Amino acid sequence: MATGDKGPSGPDFTKGIPAGDLAEGSMLTGHVGDDEVMLARQGGKLFAVSAHCTHYHGPLADGLLVGETVRCPWHHARFNLQTGEAIAAPALSPLTCWRVEERDGTIVVKSKKEQPAPRPNGSPNKRIVIIGGGAAGFAGAEILRRHGFDGTITMLSNDSAAPVDRPNLSKDYLAGSAPEDWVPLRGDDWYAENKIDLKLKTEVAGVDVKSKEVLLEHGNKIRFDKLLLATGAEPVKLDIPGADQKHVYTLRSLNDCRAIIAQAKTAKRAVVIGASFIGLESAAALRARDIEVHVAAPEKRPLERVFGPQLGDFIRALHEEHGVNFHLENSVSAIDGRRVTLKNGGTIDADLVVIGVGVRPRLSLAEKAGLAIDRGVLVNAHMETNIPEIYAAGDIARWPDPISGERIRVEHWVVAERQGQVAALNMMGVPTPFRSAPFFWSQHYDVPLNYVGHAEKWDSIDIDGDITKRDCVVRYKLGGRVMAVASIYRDKDSLEAGLELERQAARTKSPTG
Ligand SMILES: Cc1cc2nc3c(=O)[nH]c(=O)nc-3n(C[C@H](O)[C@H](O)[C@H](O)COP(=O)(O)OP(=O)(O)OC[C@H]3O[C@@H](n4cnc5c(N)ncnc54)[C@H](O)[C@@H]3O)c2cc1C
Ligand code: FES
Repeated sequence: MATGDKGPSGPDFTKGIPAGDLAEGSMLTGHVGDDEVMLARQGGKLFAVSAHCTHYHGPLADGLLVGETVRCPWHHARFNLQTGEAIAAPALSPLTCWRVEERDGTIVVKSKKEQPAPRPNGSPNKRIVIIGGGAAGFAGAEILRRHGFDGTITMLSNDSAAPVDRPNLSKDYLAGSAPEDWVPLRGDDWYAENKIDLKLKTEVAGVDVKSKEVLLEHGNKIRFDKLLLATGAEPVKLDIPGADQKHVYTLRSLNDCRAIIAQAKTAKRAVVIGASFIGLESAAALRARDIEVHVAAPEKRPLERVFGPQLGDFIRALHEEHGVNFHLENSVSAIDGRRVTLKNGGTIDADLVVIGVGVRPRLSLAEKAGLAIDRGVLVNAHMETNIPEIYAAGDIARWPDPISGERIRVEHWVVAERQGQVAALNMMGVPTPFRSAPFFWSQHYDVPLNYVGHAEKWDSIDIDGDITKRDCVVRYKLGGRVMAVASIYRDKDSLEAGLELERQAARTKSPTG
């Protein structure tokens, strides 16, 4: 993409650059006409691809080269440098690739390469049904077609909206800084063009594992050869008087978000119940709309359970800098009309209340179908449940994580998408284990927090850099081993930490499953 009136920056790669300007293992950004292009030299080969990630436009030259791939610095998407393919979410669309030559000490970028058309995969399983139109379900359907699956794909969702970029619902879209057309993962035409039968407003009532049929609410049945269960999670409801009033919301779907935005247009004061990721991101978004915001939650520090006390204190101070009022070690006991009563007896008048007290995985279909459950649907490394041909992915799945050595279940966008992709590849007969280090990001005002790995507990926290200066890497260790790494504006360190966790896991034996 050109950079405004100035035109694209960096050297014109069609005119050539001295070969010595691009050392082995390095990347350089320049341009070809109006296209910003990144050159990379890796393993003695040269690559020329789009300079920006197809997810949110992250600058790839600030990322990490790993073999013939590049990892994006912002949310860890991975691209094949040879073909441009987005081989791991959250990016789904490929990079453009150019031909590149080194001759007489000069590197020159030539013409664009054509994207190879998918070759039919020829899987004998011709009917794939996906329950869920969220991160895992969508990414699964997309990769099936991208890899040439030529059978039928039916995607069933009880939502009224086609799959959306859910993380945006508590960030730019809620804040009013992103238009609604950024929110769908693909336009409506895409489903028909890719022969994906997306059935919205369709409640699945059951799965008959013997006859291999999905049972819809109104009695229809859909047969499958392979099934992906990706029903996600739903917000926990608060059992307090007044929680069912019209101005009290939870946030999961595009409709939830639209309703909050409609109320925010006239609201003067909001109470956010719960200092969760969604609660705090919503608080930041509502502050951007100039609404007075109060956050009430029982914990001592926001997000301390995930990030520890140091980052917890920083997050609190950051929100306070932006005018958020915290009522911690407290909570809400009732909402009486516009009056919110706190457990300590205090009251706040609010015309908008957002409940962000966590989510619960939607397990009822899996339970009724007789799948093995242990605080999530149990899957093996290939995302297959205990019932052959039935896979599960995303917020509902508990998988054998080779990094922590435990069976874990997380609620992260990138994990859900990648698990959907891995499940889909296995369903179409391409054996693929899920081995990625769990990754999530969260955005509070202009501060992005990245987190890689998984640490439910730790015995020490090492801080490299300065949290208050928004320049830090925080390592969570157990028995001397790094289990997870959080970071602020240290993208390369975050990528390297993820790679190191994956390499360590590859050297140790995987947990059972
Ligand atoms: C507002 C918000 C912001 C977030 N921000 C971030 C972030 O910044 N970073 C991050 O890592 N994670 C974030 N998350 C979490 C992330 O979105 C989830 O981890 C991810 O969406 C899980 O994907 P999934 O496919 O498992 O479930 P979902 O995306 O929830 O999709 C589940 C789908 O199943 C459908 N469904 C469920 N039951 C049925 C049924 N019986 N019949 C038919 N359809 C059914 C639902 O309608 C939905 O379409 C955020 C979540 C929310 C709500
Ligand atoms: S911008 Fe590259 S992964 Fe998000």
